[in-house]
Amino acid sequence: MYPVNSPCNLNTQPWIRRAALCFLVSTFLGTVGQALPGIGENIILVQGGTAILPCKLVGRRPPDIVSQISWRKEPRNVNFLTILPKTEPIFIDRHDERFEFIGNFSADNGSLKLSNIMLKDEGTYTCIITLFPSGNVKTSILLNVLVPPVTSLKDDLPTVGDEEVSLVTCVAAGAKPPAEVQWLTDTLGEKARQSISVSEHADGTTTTVSSLFGVPTREIDQRSVECVVTSAALSKEERLPFTVQIYFSPVEVIISETSEGAFECVTEAKPNANITWSRSDQSRPQSTVKVDGATLQFPSMTSDLNGLYQCEATNLYGRKRNYVYVHVTSESCQTCCVLFGLLLVLMVVAVALWYLYKTRKCFRTGEEPRGEKSKVPTVSTTHEDYQQVAEEQL
Ligand SMILES: *[C@@H]1O[C@H](CO)[C@@H](O)[C@H](O)[C@H]1NC(C)=O
Repeated sequence: MYPVNSPCNLNTQPWIRRAALCFLVSTFLGTVGQALPGIGENIILVQGGTAILPCKLVGRRPPDIVSQISWRKEPRNVNFLTILPKTEPIFIDRHDERFEFIGNFSADNGSLKLSNIMLKDEGTYTCIITLFPSGNVKTSILLNVLVPPVTSLKDDLPTVGDEEVSLVTCVAAGAKPPAEVQWLTDTLGEKARQSISVSEHADGTTTTVSSLFGVPTREIDQRSVECVVTSAALSKEERLPFTVQIYFSPVEVIISETSEGAFECVTEAKPNANITWSRSDQSRPQSTVKVDGATLQFPSMTSDLNGLYQCEATNLYGRKRNYVYVHVTSESCQTCCVLFGLLLVLMVVAVALWYLYKTRKCFRTGEEPRGEKSKVPTVSTTHEDYQQVAEEQL
């Protein structure tokens, strides 16, 4: 017997004709060897590809002639395309330019080309060659459409803590057949665990989601992991590298004097903290104070800038503050202090000389000059120094 699908199955035929055709196929056609090879052929293609749907009648014998070649897609039992001799193929429902007749009517070849395959094209295609007077012969082709997954990673924004949380999620969406998702977590060692969930969509595709779990310590921050997606619709596995990010609020705010009249405020935070400088004791900021990013700058040193300055570090997860007390000694004062000091020294020297001269003149030996005993107040701006001088003077 030849691999011909029996016309007995064509339920569009009236029963009486069916019976007649059954008889013809099983007796006459069988012996003359008119056949459509490749019945039950299975074509597997990735979405977007091009399929050749072959249909070729071999061994046609006179008096049979081909009167029509038609295509239908199950489960619909009506033709969607009809090919007649010497005319363009006729689309029954609507024209779909993705189907192209590439066969040759006179060579009994009814092959079709279907380009830009979509998921909806999946199904069984049946080619029916109508012979006169013998009847119909047909062949079926099963078209399987594979859909590659759309892969993505989602940072689950873990913040520092001691409870296990989802660190990052890998998604392989809309795949057919279901994609496999796996995390490579060698760098995390025992600290990691992965979950998997598969959801099916109405169109037959599935989405596979895998989350990587771990305890969000700062120790695992910046560790490299990889999500590996495998799918029959992908020519090779897809690898999605990821660097684990553990987020935390500003840790400690450190203020340091980077240069003369410049204070820098630094902190550790993730994401990086925003630094805001403000003056704590006065609501209105001074025009002479410049803030350049994290640096507070005093371009001119005037005593009206004296005060408490606050640096605040803020990010999504929290804020932290620190203060610096700025005391500016004006330049004019510094000069006058130096002059005053010099004057004092000169006076002391003068007094000493005068005593020396006086003691020599009177020939009074053994008496110490009183002036050398008292301490000369040093030029100082600190409160403690002034206190010291005051105590000695008492
Ligand atoms: C039928 O036509 C197709 C497209 O032109 C061709 O590839 C195929 O070889 C033909 N079949 C035979 C058996 O000649």
